Amino acid sequence: MSETRDSTRLLPDSAYDDIERECAKYPPAQRQSGIMAALRIAQGHNDGWLAPEMIKHIADVIGVPPIRAYEVATFYNMFSLKPVGKYKICLCTNLPCALRGSAKVAEAFKEKLGIEFGETTPDGKVTLVEGECFGACDNSPVVIVNNTKMHAKITIDKIDDFLAGLDKD
Ligand code: FES
Repeated sequence: MSETRDSTRLLPDSAYDDIERECAKYPPAQRQSGIMAALRIAQGHNDGWLAPEMIKHIADVIGVPPIRAYEVATFYNMFSLKPVGKYKICLCTNLPCALRGSAKVAEAFKEKLGIEFGETTPDGKVTLVEGECFGACDNSPVVIVNNTKMHAKITIDKIDDFLAGLDKD
C-alpha cells in the first residue's frame, strides 16, 4: 500500500497505487510531473469530476502546493470541476472544426439535449462541454466522450444515432 502525505485518504488503495506508479515514471525529484495522471486517476474514482478538496488532496499526495494542482485542473478541460453526467460530450469548436460546421453541430446538440455548454441533462445522463483542438482536425468536427472515446466527422444528421449509441461507449 502506498503512503500519502495526507492522513485523510479520499481514494481507494488501488488509486494511490496507480498514482505512485505514474509518479515512478519520473526521477524522484520530478515526481510532480505525475500530477496530470494523478488528477485523471482521482477524477476516474469520483464520477468524472474533481471537487476542490480532491484537488488539494492530490496536491498533498504528489507533494506540491495546492495552487499547482489547481493550475493543472483548471487549465485542461479534460478535468471537470463540478459534477457531470454519465456521459461528458466534449465537442471541439476550434477553427478547423468550426470551418467544418462544429457551430451548427453544437446548436443541434444543444437543441436535442435541451442544455447549453457546461450543463447536464435533467436525467443526469449527458453533460455537454466545449472542447479545444484534439489534434484530429482532419476528422473534424470531432467529439470526445468521457475524455477517452473519439468520434470523428460528427454531422447534424449523425447526432441522433450518436446519442442513441452512448450506452455502447
Ligand atoms: Fe477540432 Fe483540431 S480543431 S480537432
